Amino acid sequence: MKALIAAGGRATRLRPITWTINKHLIPLAGRPMLAHVIEKIVEAGITDIYVNVNPGEGESMRAALGDGSAFGAKLTYLEQQGGAKGVAHVVANAEAQLKGERFLFFLGDNIILGSIKRFVERFEAEKLDCMLAFSRVKDPQRFGVPEFDAAGKLVRVVEKPANPPSPFAVTGIYLYDTRFFDAFRTIAPSARGEYEISDVNSWYVGNGTVGFEEITGWWKDTGTPDALLEGNALVMDDLPRAAFTSEGTVSLEAQVQGLVKIGKGSVIGEGALIRGPVVIGEDCRLENCYVGPYTSIGDRTTIRHAEVEHSIIFPGVALTAQKRIVNSIVGANATVADVRDSVPRTGHQMIVGENSVLEI
Ligand code: G1P
Repeated sequence: MKALIAAGGRATRLRPITWTINKHLIPLAGRPMLAHVIEKIVEAGITDIYVNVNPGEGESMRAALGDGSAFGAKLTYLEQQGGAKGVAHVVANAEAQLKGERFLFFLGDNIILGSIKRFVERFEAEKLDCMLAFSRVKDPQRFGVPEFDAAGKLVRVVEKPANPPSPFAVTGIYLYDTRFFDAFRTIAPSARGEYEISDVNSWYVGNGTVGFEEITGWWKDTGTPDALLEGNALVMDDLPRAAFTSEGTVSLEAQVQGLVKIGKGSVIGEGALIRGPVVIGEDCRLENCYVGPYTSIGDRTTIRHAEVEHSIIFPGVALTAQKRIVNSIVGANATVADVRDSVPRTGHQMIVGENSVLEI
């Protein structure tokens, strides 16, 4: 079987971070979001993987993720043609590659706990035409929503309904048989101008056997800063214990508690308290600071005096302000310094990128 990952889009709600990096490359637990998705797919036994990217981003995505050999897979990057016209259109863009195949389609911003292996196996074992995964959510109106009849039979999938017919979201993990492209040709753009994957799914309900399962513990839509931080936490919870290796140096005057991964060349110095789960990259310097649960720290970062918790810190960052930084996303090479170190002391000096948010 082959797989297609959707990894395009503009991710406007994550600006300014996404001005300079594709959302799907944002590090979660120290690795690009897509690395976690690719691992799930490979673990399910699929190694021939296409990655749909924005026009012009093929090279940068390839530079970040490689040809797939690091994952035991083959990655092929496909630049989206014909503009951004919806989720179903992303699959249509890969028709030449997927024609005649049964395939997995995975929205690259969907972060889930656990394995998708059983899901793929059931699709094959039962020779299903389409397989969907549902998740109970508080806000189904933001998603594709399955509708059931009184007997509990799936009757259709509605995209972003104002009045959701069930409390479930259709997650962005789909399996299809070879007729996807026939189905695609029967649908028209929705009121928001997009070819909706929900319309394809409804076509399958009317024209084939659709299997579905409820999955628990998934999380989608790394689309907002809060959701991204939640995804970072989820990925850390999903890491095997063996991933929390310590390859750095820990001072006798530092305390490291719980599951903490420390990368090569990093020094946890005097007065540092690190309370896991925490992932620290390579060549970092941490001293007289506190790093709390669900924080991931990129390579070459310095933290001194600051307290950080439940945050994503990109590489090359310096946090030296005597402040408690929580629920934060700090982009590459940013500095959050202590005003008391600046001479002359005139006030908080900042160079803040477009769409940045600061609470001082
Ligand atoms: C897309 C799909 C929607 C699905 C969701 C899952 O929504 O259109 O049916 O429930 O992904 O992540 P979008 O992210 O485009 O709003």
